[in-house]
Amino acid sequence: MKKHFILAALAAVLAAPVSAQETKIDPLHADVVMKFAFSQAPKDWAGRVDQDETLKVCSAARNAPSAADAEKIMAREKAKIKYPDDGKLMGDWKQGERWAQSGYGMRFTDYPPRNPNGGNCYACHQMTQAEVSYGTVGPSLREYGKIRKYAEADVKAVYEKIYNAHAAFPCSLMPRFGSNAVLTIDQIKDLVALVMSPESPVNK
Ligand code: HEC
Repeated sequence: MKKHFILAALAAVLAAPVSAQETKIDPLHADVVMKFAFSQAPKDWAGRVDQDETLKVCSAARNAPSAADAEKIMAREKAKIKYPDDGKLMGDWKQGERWAQSGYGMRFTDYPPRNPNGGNCYACHQMTQAEVSYGTVGPSLREYGKIRKYAEADVKAVYEKIYNAHAAFPCSLMPRFGSNAVLTIDQIKDLVALVMSPESPVNK
């Protein structure tokens, strides 16, 4: 019964006329299509299909929230950041390069996962000089640490950025790797080293 409703709603969305100027999509229909697309997903992923408060506010404001809403989002997301017990924010940049290259994980054909998730950083960022295949959704991170003189405050900012990108940029397009349990704290430390360590090829 429920499936038929979803299929009917999906058909209605697909059949809706598309205006040449702006496509107006009813948010309810978008929700139905999303849920349908993930109907085969493992049960404990259900929460990921529902937008949380931050994404709801960002979607409603088309990623341009009011100053007051932006403050609320950043405070809420910052509170979700967990730091390493040993206080060390940098791990092994060689492992970090592995996580940055890897787009593995979060597939429901691979559950429980056979390999650790990747961060897929190159999909959006330029990083090392050697890797010429990268996306440009995010800014280039070439020499990111070197430009900042490897300052401690910037090491912390990069850790927080990777853990929860919305803590500093309310409606960021970058995934919240730590808060959404895509990457572990140790993986995030390796990625901080890739971006911020003087030995890393990102800074050569
Ligand atoms: C889906 C695209 C996407 C992915 C994947 C992504 N990022 Fe980003 N990233 C962005 C965007 C867009 C920005 C700029 C907006 C912002 O600061 O949130 C950004 C900003 C950053 C910044 C701050 C740049 C500055 O201007 O100071 C760092 C550092 C960063 N990303 C590191 C990473 C790392 C490391 C990974 C992999 C674990 C990663 N990003 C994965 C899109 C992405």
